This record gives sequence, structure tokens and C-alpha cells, in this order.
Amino acid sequence: MKYIKNCENLNEKRILLRLDLNVPLKNGIITDSTRIDKILPIINFLLEKKSKILVISHVGRPKGKFNDNLSLKPICENLEKKINRKIYLIKEDIFKLKKEDLFKDPKDQIVFLENIRFYEEEEKNDPNFSKHLAKLADIFVNDAFSCSHRSHASVNKITEFLPSYAGLQLETEINALKKVTSEIKKPISCIIGGSKISTKIGIIKNLIPKFDNIIIVGGMANNILNYQGNPIGKSIKEDNCESIIEDIFRTAKTHSCSIFYPEDVLVGKSIEDKAQIRELNEVKNDDLILDIGPKTINKIKEIIESSETVLWNGPAGYFENPSFANGSYEIAKKIIEKNKKNLIYSIAGGGDTISVLNQINAINNFNFVSTAGGAFLEYLEGKELPGIKALY
Ligand code: 3PG
Ligand code: MG
Repeated sequence: MKYIKNCENLNEKRILLRLDLNVPLKNGIITDSTRIDKILPIINFLLEKKSKILVISHVGRPKGKFNDNLSLKPICENLEKKINRKIYLIKEDIFKLKKEDLFKDPKDQIVFLENIRFYEEEEKNDPNFSKHLAKLADIFVNDAFSCSHRSHASVNKITEFLPSYAGLQLETEINALKKVTSEIKKPISCIIGGSKISTKIGIIKNLIPKFDNIIIVGGMANNILNYQGNPIGKSIKEDNCESIIEDIFRTAKTHSCSIFYPEDVLVGKSIEDKAQIRELNEVKNDDLILDIGPKTINKIKEIIESSETVLWNGPAGYFENPSFANGSYEIAKKIIEKNKKNLIYSIAGGGDTISVLNQINAINNFNFVSTAGGAFLEYLEGKELPGIKALY
């Protein structure tokens, strides 16, 4: 892999810089800016080298359509303040854009393209789209480890059309994950939560041989509860997961890995509601499962207590509403309690998990925190990530 830090003569070179600025937004306000803070090193590095930086990022899942609520505008403004420099956000159609339209004023050094997922060609890994993007720059840099598990035009295909390099944050993330996967101490427990069920449910099976305990919380747990015959009301779930779940339990048995899922839950009638505790068989038709219950929390604490290593990706509930943040906070607190006594090696990953840790000021109490969620899990699986493979 070629690293941008070793690259000579970047002066006046146009760098197409793929970042993952997919930060949580609530009514256009950034609720956690960790992913922006983490890319300051690459921005400062390229500014010092006097490069022209053309940033590409996505935020959310606009599915190929323009969506004003998912504009990169608040992200540009946040970054502008942090680096004390003007940033231009290009709103016009990327297909109409020519190289000479950019950086017209010699003082301009950073330009952002609008949310790249406004173009359906991005997720289709469309070579013509990548080719067009490539025409706007001289060099491609991937500093978005957290979306390198996606075969998308600005992550993967683009590398066929420009000399391509790994960025600084990507390098840091890979080195840290390499270290933890080679020096890991058993028993290892992995906590998987969050709402991206389709991304993660298929990964679990491949993680089973590597771990002693897998704790499934968040949206994915609903699928398991439902599979076991429990009512889940209006809660989120993925369709047609029965055979994947059967496979998970079968594989777990073969590898003596314990799969743990909620024993009780917190529900609300809407995401804004207050929490009510429910036994599994008591969930009503109009209930939404939004967090784990007290029995489940105690059980998870016991598992953490008996672990030497813990990996955590994805919150246990809808932590954006404080009524449903307790499960995630209690997990974090238990890990931190052991970490402070040096009794556990702890790694957390993912945009939402980082938000949870920031809410309770706990981000520095883990051994390593990755900006990546899905990419982090796929890396642990031992999979080659398409965005990384493309850099070789
Ligand atoms: C993330 O938040 O994990 C990355 O930005 C990738 O987002 P995605 O799951 O929508 O591809
Ligand atoms: Mg995310």
C-alpha cells in the first residue's frame, strides 16, 4: 500500500480526498463531531504541502436523491471553524463540473463536493462516475477507513483512474486493529448493537469462531427475539433472517461460543416516549423495543466481568432519547470500571458508539476507539475490505 505521508511533491497537486464525515445530525445540527476531529491531521498535512484539496464524503443514506437535510453544509461550517479557513461547498451537478471550474482563486485550498450519495452512481460503483471524478484531480487519497467496506465509486472504483494512496487516519486505524487482532487475550466478548441490521447480521456468523461470547443488543436483537417466538410490536427488524439466525446458533454450538441476547427490554409507543420495562412475552402490538432491560444489563455486566478483552460496536438502544440510553451507558461504565484497574483490553467502534461514549465523557477510557462500525466488524472477520484492497 502507498501512503500519502511518503509522497513527495504535493505542491499545487489536486488531491481528491475521500473522507467519512458521516456524523450524526439532528435538525441540521451535528450532535457528535468526532469524525470531523479525526480528519484534521490529513487536512493540515495537505494544507502544509500546499495541495489543493477536493473533499468527497457522504452523510446518511439519501439513496441517490438530493436531500436538503443531508447536505454537507453543517459539516463544512464545523470544519471551517476548526481550521479557521474558508471552505467552498459545490452545489452544482458533479457531471457538469470541469477541472477548470475548481480552485479559480489561487487562494482557494479546500473545496467540498456535495454529499456524494445524492448520486445513485456512487453506491453502484459506476466506473463512468469514478472516471468523471478522477478528471477533477491528480491524486486520490482514501482517509475513510470507516466506509472502506463499501464498494462505492468514490471509495473503490476511483482507484482505477488515479494514483491512489492511504491517508493518515486510515493508516492509524489499520495499524491499531492489526495490533489488537494479533495480541488479543481470551476470553473475548464482542457486543454488537446499533440499527444497521442488514450490514451486521451476516457478519456475526464469521465472528463466532474468534470469540467466546457474542452479545447481541440493539435493533438486531429484535430479529432474534422474534425468531424465538417473542412478540416485538412495531420494533425495527430485517425480513427473511430466519436461516441466518439458525446458522448463527448452529455455528456457535460447533465453536462453543455463547450467544447472548436480551432477557427483558424497555419499550415506548414512539421514539420520543418515556421508557417502560417489559418482560419478553409482554411486548404489546404498538410497542417499540428501544433499549435493553435491567436483567439484561446485569447479565451483560457479568459477561464483561469474566472477559479479558471486549470489543463493542453499536449502542444497546435508541440512546438519542435519554430514556433509552441507560443500557448503553451501563455497558460503557462496566467496561470502564474494569479498564481503570487494567483488567480488560477494550475496543469500541462506530459513529453511534462514539456518540454514546462522548455523552458520558468516556472516550479516553477505552484502549482503542475506531471511527469505523461496519468496516471495523468486517476487518475483525478477516475480510479484505474493497476500499483497502483497491489501494494495493
Ligand atoms: C458508517 O457510518 O458506518 C459509514 O459512514 C458507512 O455508512 P453506511 O453504513 O451507510 O454505508
Ligand atoms: Mg454509522
